[in-house]
Amino acid sequence: MTRPPYLDPELSPQARTDDLIRRMSVEQQIGQMVQADGRYDAVAQVEAQRVGSFLHILGDSTVELQKLAERTGLGIPLIFGIDAIHGHGFWPGAAVFPTQLALSCSWAPELVETMGRVTAKEMLCTGLHWTFSPVLCLTRDLRWGRVGETFGEDPHLLGVLGQAAIRGYQGDDVSLPDSVLACAKHFAGYSETVGGKDATEAELSERKLRTYFLPPFHEAVKAGCRTFMTAYQCIDGVACAANHWLLTELLRDEWGFDGFVVTDWDNVGRAHKMQGLYPSVDAAVPDCVHAGNDMIMVTPEFFEAALANVANGRLDKADVELAARRLLHAKFALGLFDHKRYPPLERAADVVGCTAHRQPLLDAALQSAVLLENRHVDGEPTLPLRPSVRRIAVLGPNADDTLAQLGDWSFGSGQAGLKTGSHPRSSVVTVRDGIESRAAREGIAVDYAQGVTILGNDTSGVAHAAALAANADVAIVVVGDTLEQVGEECDRSDLELGPNQQALLEAVKATGTPLVVLLINSKPLCIPWIAENADAVLELFNPGMRGGEAAAALLFGDSAPSGRLSISFAKHLGQLPVHYQRIPGWHGSKHGHYDDEPLYTFGYGLTYTTFEYSDLRLEQTRVPRGRDVRAEVTVRNSGQVAGVEVVQVYVNDVYTSLSTPSKTLRGFERVSLAPGESRRVTFTLSAEALSFVGRDGTLVLEPGEFELMVGSSSRDQDLKRVRFELT
Ligand code: NOJ
Repeated sequence: MTRPPYLDPELSPQARTDDLIRRMSVEQQIGQMVQADGRYDAVAQVEAQRVGSFLHILGDSTVELQKLAERTGLGIPLIFGIDAIHGHGFWPGAAVFPTQLALSCSWAPELVETMGRVTAKEMLCTGLHWTFSPVLCLTRDLRWGRVGETFGEDPHLLGVLGQAAIRGYQGDDVSLPDSVLACAKHFAGYSETVGGKDATEAELSERKLRTYFLPPFHEAVKAGCRTFMTAYQCIDGVACAANHWLLTELLRDEWGFDGFVVTDWDNVGRAHKMQGLYPSVDAAVPDCVHAGNDMIMVTPEFFEAALANVANGRLDKADVELAARRLLHAKFALGLFDHKRYPPLERAADVVGCTAHRQPLLDAALQSAVLLENRHVDGEPTLPLRPSVRRIAVLGPNADDTLAQLGDWSFGSGQAGLKTGSHPRSSVVTVRDGIESRAAREGIAVDYAQGVTILGNDTSGVAHAAALAANADVAIVVVGDTLEQVGEECDRSDLELGPNQQALLEAVKATGTPLVVLLINSKPLCIPWIAENADAVLELFNPGMRGGEAAAALLFGDSAPSGRLSISFAKHLGQLPVHYQRIPGWHGSKHGHYDDEPLYTFGYGLTYTTFEYSDLRLEQTRVPRGRDVRAEVTVRNSGQVAGVEVVQVYVNDVYTSLSTPSKTLRGFERVSLAPGESRRVTFTLSAEALSFVGRDGTLVLEPGEFELMVGSSSRDQDLKRVRFELT
């Protein structure tokens, strides 16, 4: 028997898709569009519906199902997807990195790319082809449960880091068996639902979408991201899942995306069941397919509903064929028909969590931590710890909590309870572990007490913890949030630490022992008391498997903190939103006694040295329209130890015909400097970086006065300014 063209690896994915699609019935094409939950009746779903994809399965089961799919019908392989969000977190012992929010504070795309590479390699050993990552939602409402899954609040930083993650996952070429597909999600505006209420309505004009929320996704397309995931919520009344403008006119026609789109979990069903947009799931199907969704994630009714809709003419066969074509093309491109990608399960133990993959875990945690306060006590900074420290009290609910340290999308989070597994205890170095082993090297004594839990109302452990603090040279108190307060369906109405943690902190403070606060939390909390009372504050967010080792290295001064906030902290919930890209014009500039200044602002972070900026110069102060703007600045390490500065460049078009924020980040660079060393740092800004979005959605470049700001954070006092005119 001759081999059909679609099985010929010498032909292009396009030619193979053309051949295969001709051989398929509409029923088989619809089957390709189904992504099913692999935990239930997977075999039956392959046999009955010829489903095209599964999620939520790993290892041996992927092999069994793939073999079954090969024997069934035309032998079209399955594609397996998983939420490998900051590491392959649902496989025991895999390298779990800091969460996206933590990683984004490194402002280090190389680190994010490495996270993607390591994750791809570990996924491939366990049968997975596709990760539902990165999240490119831009966070402004801190009440939202999923803040920690994002890269923070700035479109430019999100775009740069998103591209890095995509490069890491997909490698140089997705046909090579060391790459997995990336997925830019949740498209779009999902983080901006009113009141931070997950998946409700986002009140977004097209101009606001295009200014802040869409640019990171556009960057993902430019980086060759192969898949997109549709967001849950509605924008101006239209469910993203049924939004033809968003998924087709913008994404494909305007931006040129040529991959495939997957819905989020039961998006199509929810348009009926939860959003009240259709009287039945059947009724939702034609719009959702026509809008541009190619694969339908876990809507159990979809297969039958799509068939019925084709039969009664409401669903166009051409829409089905188009979706199936895109999905098959991706399978050919991945090489699934050829080298099959059967996982080398026997090698998984050697690859997953191997030494080479654990080194970047430490680098990532070190570079992501942000030093927020470092006060002088007796004339010297609190950190790094002094040689006179001989006894340390390590206290607090997150000092020795492996789940809080790993964060969401690892075992223990809402998406996978502990029932499904856990990471070996030895793979996680908590803050307590890290400090104990570092202190032991110098014969320093360490006492530990949890003191309190985060939730509940038991403060009986506070007195003991305070006694340990009283007896120590320094108290390190690790507070934050717990996974029960984080993730999907876990929005918060307050951002306080809660009474237990507050009682612990106040009792330790009352002992008079220097107080160092470490924060392990999914998102910025309202911590004005800590800002005022702690002698030093180090924000770790969820720092991953080697977070405790990194914390110890930073506390002892083996490394210097180099993270900068990718998101602003509010002093009080009522102050929201506090992101730095504010539109000017607020009368009075106050909410009661809280002014417009965040507690800690985007871009901010301290280290163990200081930097001076001087001689900010422009190549030209009158710049012809369309020409790049070039600027230079000298940055000098003016302190006693080596350090890393994140040089940030912001632009303001001083007078615009439409309201625009008075600062927009347009560039940044991490610069490593020895004590006394200076570097001339140069920046080039394109015409696009000087533009804003007009009322019709296109970019507008208006001649006139501009301000360029360069410095160490988005705060006014940290920026040098220079003006130029666009002619
Ligand atoms: C729902 C979440 O919104 C999405 O981020 C995730 O990828 C899917 N579930 C699959 O688990």
